[in-house]
Order: sequence, then structure tokens, then C-alpha cells
Amino acid sequence: MARKLFIAGNWKMNKTASEAAADVKRLVELLSGVGDKARVAVCPPFTALDRISSVARSAGMELGAQNLSDKASGAYTGEVSAQMLLDLGVTQVIVGHSERRQFYGENDSIVSKKAIFALASGLCPIVCVGETLEEREAGSTEKVLRTQISGSLDGISAEDMLRTTIAYEPVWAIGTGKTATPQQAQDAHAFIRSLLSAKYGETCAQKVIIQYGGSVKASNSKELMAMPDIDGALVGGASLDPAGFADLVKNAL
Ligand code: 13P
Repeated sequence: MARKLFIAGNWKMNKTASEAAADVKRLVELLSGVGDKARVAVCPPFTALDRISSVARSAGMELGAQNLSDKASGAYTGEVSAQMLLDLGVTQVIVGHSERRQFYGENDSIVSKKAIFALASGLCPIVCVGETLEEREAGSTEKVLRTQISGSLDGISAEDMLRTTIAYEPVWAIGTGKTATPQQAQDAHAFIRSLLSAKYGETCAQKVIIQYGGSVKASNSKELMAMPDIDGALVGGASLDPAGFADLVKNAL
């Protein structure tokens, strides 16, 4: 079953709206023509979404947010709702990134609430999972992934799972320059797919896009994306420079 490569740039808390606008314009030029072979998304901070929306989308690039509220609207100071994102042309939203889990106390139950809310609103969630270094060294990677997949996807139907992307991001590989080897990443992806198969059936599991994230760059995207269960990437640092990100995408094709 062919799954179309899906590479998303997670800009995290970087770039003003003006910087984002200039960089997306450049990225669109550099990536013209890759649209048939891969899906590409950019996930800027909330403050840049409006400024880059039409340029990105008219070039076939998908627009993603990095977070959303699990509430529809109301007195929730500082939160951003699904409807606000949809209104700006956002289609993808990252939920449960390890930085949100680590620094903002998000747990599997909050992640599943956000993912369900996103899906019900018409957004496609990118649900992040991944073990820490201590967990890997203790031999508990599979246990952690089993808990996170079960908790973070709790209440999501098989039909909605087809609109959901999983990002496997081993915490020890994020922003450290330490990439999982293609085999380590493949093993985790195959394990995640087996969990999806047990929960949703093999037909559904074979259709779900599973991205790898953690120090992906232009020099390693090809070998990672060549693995059978790695269907794309969620890229942090290396997505900030348009030329580097464009090379990363092209090398992966
Ligand atoms: P880096 O690519 O900077 O390691 O970050 C990965 C990540 O967290 C993407 O969401």
C-alpha cells in the first residue's frame, strides 16, 4: 500500500510573521514541482499563520498549527481554538509534542482530548509520541509507546484515524543532533503500526502516515525515508532555513 510521503516543518517558537512570510515565499519557489511526489506542510507559530496562509496554500503546501485548545470558545485566556485555525486555512495541527508534554504538563488524556476536538472540528491532528533516553536505556521503549498510543488515541475511531498522522519523535533525538538510526526508527515505526493494527485493523494501519522526528536533516532524510514504515518527517531545526529544508525534502523523494 503506497503511502504518500508527508514532510512537515515544525518551526516551534521561531520567526516573526515578517520573517515567516519571506521564508515561505522562498520555500515555495524552491519546492515548486515536488507536490506530486510528497505532501509538504509548514507549522509556524500562531502569529505567522495568517501572513503565510495564502502563499503557502496556493502553492499546494499544507498549513499546520503547533497546538490548539481542547475547548470550543469562551473564557480560556491565551488559548487558540480549532475554529480560529480553520478560519486561517489551517488543516493540520500538531498535538502532544514532547515539548508540550515536558514543559506544559500535557499528558495522554489531554492529547487525546485535543486530537478528538481537532478531528471533530475538521482539522487533521499530527499526534506525537516518543520515549526519553532513560526509557530507551531501561529497555522500556515499547512499553512507553504502547501507553502513549493507547492513551493519546483513546476515543478516536478508525475512520478518524485515517485523517490522523502519528509522529514518532524519540525525545533523545530532538534538537540534539543525535538521530535515531534508520533501523532504530524503522523498528519503532513498525511497532507503532502493529499497535494501530491491533486497535484499528490491518487495512487501516497500513494507511496511516507515521512520520519520524528528531534531528532529521538534508544529509539523512533519504536513508530514513527509505525505510518501509517511515512515511515522512516532522522536522524542527532543519526546517528553519528554506534552502536546507527544500534540500531535505528533495533528498527524501
Ligand atoms: P529537531 O528536528 O530540531 O530535532 O526537532 C524535531 C522536532 O521536535 C519536530 O517536531
